[in-house]
Order: sequence, then structure tokens, then C-alpha cells
Amino acid sequence: SRQQRLVVVSNRVPLPNDGAGKAGGLTVALEGALKQSGGLWFGWSGETVEEPSDQAKVSQSGNITFAVLDLSQQDYDEYYAGFANRALWPVCHYRLDLVQIERQELEGYFRVNRAFAASLAPLLRPDDVIWVHDYHFIPLAAELRRLGFRNRIGFFLHIPWPPSDVASALPAYQQLLQGFGAYDLVGFHTPQDAENFQRCLVRENIGSPIGAGEHQIDGHKVRIGAFPVGIDTEGFARAAANAEQNSLVRRTTASMGNRDLIIGVDRLDYSKGLKQRIEAFSCFIRSNPDFRNRVTYLQITPKSRSDVPEYQQMQREIAEQAGWTNGSLGEVDWTPVRYVNRTIGHAALAGLYRMSRIGLVTPLRDGMNLVAKEFVAAQQPDDPGVLILSRFAGAAHELNGAILVNPYDTEACAAAIARALQMPREERRERWESMMGQLRVNTVDAWCQRFLSSLSGAPDHGPAAP
Ligand code: UDP
Ligand code: G6P
Repeated sequence: SRQQRLVVVSNRVPLPNDGAGKAGGLTVALEGALKQSGGLWFGWSGETVEEPSDQAKVSQSGNITFAVLDLSQQDYDEYYAGFANRALWPVCHYRLDLVQIERQELEGYFRVNRAFAASLAPLLRPDDVIWVHDYHFIPLAAELRRLGFRNRIGFFLHIPWPPSDVASALPAYQQLLQGFGAYDLVGFHTPQDAENFQRCLVRENIGSPIGAGEHQIDGHKVRIGAFPVGIDTEGFARAAANAEQNSLVRRTTASMGNRDLIIGVDRLDYSKGLKQRIEAFSCFIRSNPDFRNRVTYLQITPKSRSDVPEYQQMQREIAEQAGWTNGSLGEVDWTPVRYVNRTIGHAALAGLYRMSRIGLVTPLRDGMNLVAKEFVAAQQPDDPGVLILSRFAGAAHELNGAILVNPYDTEACAAAIARALQMPREERRERWESMMGQLRVNTVDAWCQRFLSSLSGAPDHGPAAP
């Protein structure tokens, strides 16, 4: 029997000859997943043009067919830079102080979802399994149902889902929640996110719970569950072991002298806790003067979403803080914080993780955080580094061998750095083994299979739209 084709929909699509899509957990995870099964990957081209076509540009790379649409400047401003990244992103990351609500952006969001559904429609086959990703496309299934599609459609949210008191700050909250009812399966990274979500439905009187993890909406059953995303654990470990030859890794090693390396790797995003993290490092140096000139904190931070005002603001703030910290703590022959706004490829990154004594992963809120997992996978088995991980990252549910910290507590984070630098090898090995055990089981392939088999086992979708 012919295998059903997998159709993946996401806003960001890593087109074959475009390295820029790389930094971001979503494309990294999905690339791993689609390479296995092949299929169609549909989304935004990453381009804005004067007159976008409603026909997707199709290209082939290996067993993946890419079909992408350009956006008009207005669509980009309203749907992407607007509603997705100034309303949904901050609300889902518990940052109501940063929410900007504009009617026009909300309309743009629903308009782009309708247009993307209409352009996807002619590419679809009746037995395709459709997997929609992330906050850009919540209403997509409802739009496809309106066009008469009865395919299995699953949704996975790569970012957190907050409790209803927070989530309800979204405009068109009811309509957004209702839109989830068009999916057969809605997945989150953690049980906590899934539970928050189901409670939101209950509190808004949308459908009715059939039990934990199932909800009846408009006469059809939607499954709700936790599917923590994984990485290509063996692949990352191999890349790290081979990275000694990488020229960036070699140059970095040479530049370190005898100092220990502490590494942070994050898109420049306010959810990542960079301000608090630099503050914690600085507090660590001030309270442990013996470590002056003996450690370097390397923060690799590619710029992200630079035309969203909240991101521009934080780009200035973090750059100023890094400079200020170096100015006040540094020496003529010691730069405590190396702050770099560049995207580093996975091969070099794997090597940088491996040469680090500490992976500092302290987001204020994060859906999963793949960097935490990559750092662990890249370590040298007999002499592994230590992961310091925020309790507010989804990864904290799985990685109990990390030193878990509250990223708002500067002194506690500083103490965790001191403890990690002095941790005996035996304890480091034990912690690493326990995390590695989990990462070997929950790989990105396992994630994909778990989601897709739950989707194919979900109850059939209701009658076709008239
Ligand atoms: N990444 C990268 N180069 C960089 C910075 C990040 O390849 O310079 C990758 C990183 O290795 C990880 C992803 O981008 O695979 C970030 O995913 P994560 O879940 O940590 O955070 P997100 O960006 O999705 O919020
Ligand atoms: C996070 C989101 C993804 C997004 C990525 C990079 O991982 O969950 O949906 O693609 O950040 O952000 P960008 O706005 O550049 O796509």
C-alpha cells in the first residue's frame, strides 16, 4: 500500500540554498523529521515582494518538495512582525508588559492564514497527512476545513502555552481557541502547556472535555497531548567529536589560553533572559575574584526579528550591558564577556559546546530550548561539562541532570556557575549520563513518530464542510 504523504506547514522554511533559516528550533527539528519520511514542506519564502503571487514556488531537494509563498510588505508587517510577534509571542512567553494589540494586525493574521490555505489547497491530495507548526498558523486548519478538506490535520506549538489568566490577554481569544477545534491533534512540548491549554478551553466554555487529553469541539474529538521535541542526538555527538578539525573551533581554542569557557547560544530574544544572565555572570566574578582572568563567557547571539520594535530595543540594551560589563570587570589582557551577533553553523557550534565547561541556558520562558539538549549531546563522555538550565525551559522537564536555576535569581545563578566550575568529574559524569540516556531515547525521529502515530490514531474528522 502507498504510504500517506506528509505535508508540513510552517512559516519559516529552510530552503536548500539559504542558510539563514537555520537559527531557530522549529526548522532544526523539522528538517530532521522530514529528511526521514520525505514529503511536502509549505510555508513562507522569507521574501517580501510588491505583488505576491498566490501560487507557491515549488522546488525539490532530495525527497522533500518545497512550496513557498512570498508576502506583501503589508502582510509581513501585520501577520508576521505584527500579530504573530507582538501579540502571540509575548503572550505565550508570559510577557503581557510587551503585548501590542492592533485590530489591523489581527485582521492581517487571519487574512494571511486564509490566503495560505487557499494556495495550499491545489497542492493537496485526499490522503495527505497535514502537520501544521507554530503560532503563525493557528487558524490554518479551520480555513482548510472551510474549503472542504477532511484530511488528518495535526498542530504542534513550539512555544509555551500559558495559563488562561495570561492567555486571555490575546485579542480574538475565543476565535483563536475555537480555531484549534479544526485539528485532530494539538501537541505541546510539556504536560503543563497541554494542561494550561485544555483549561483555557474549559474556562471559555469551548466544547467539553472527554477526559484528560481529549476534547469534544463542534461535534468532533480533538486530541491534546505533550510531545517534547528531541534532537539528532547521535548526529550531534558525532559532529562534536569531529569538530576539533573545524577552523573556527581551533581558532577559539587557541584564543582561550588556559581559561575555562562558559557558553550561551540564543537568538537575540527577550524570552532568553540575556540581561539576567550577563548580570549573573558579572555577580559570579564579583563574588569569586579568584576566577578573574580564568574564565571567558562566550555569548553567541544572532539577531532576530530586527524590525519588531521590542527586539530593536533589546538589541541596544544587551549590547550596552555587554560593553558595560567588560568595561567595568575586564583587564587589558582579559575580556570577560565575548558577545557576538552572528549565526554559527551546527558543525562549529557542536565543537564550541564540547570545549565549554558550562552551558548557560537560562531563558525566562522557553517552549523547549534545543540548545540545552545540543550542549549535552556534544560533551565528551569522560570529562563532560555542566548544564545550567532554567526551570522555565521545557527542557527542564526532561533534563534532571542539569543544575536547575531560577533565572530571575541573580545570586543563585552566580552560585550555580561557581558550583559547576568546581564540580568533581564523577558527579559531572553521573549527571551527564542521566541526561544522555533521556536524549538517546527521545530523539527528533522519535518525536516525529510519536506525534504522527497519535495523529493517525486520532478519531476521524467530522463531516466535510458543505
Ligand atoms: N542556532 C544555530 N546557530 C546559532 C544560534 C542558534 O544553529 O548561531 C540553532 C541552535 O543550535 C538550535 C536552534 O538554533 O538548534 C535554536 O533553538 P532553540 O530551541 O534553542 O531556540 P529558539 O530559537 O527556537 O527559540
Ligand atoms: C522559534 C519559533 C519558530 C521560529 C524561530 C525563529 O523557534 O518557535 O517558529 O521560526 O523561533 O524565529 P523567526 O521569526 O526568525 O522565524
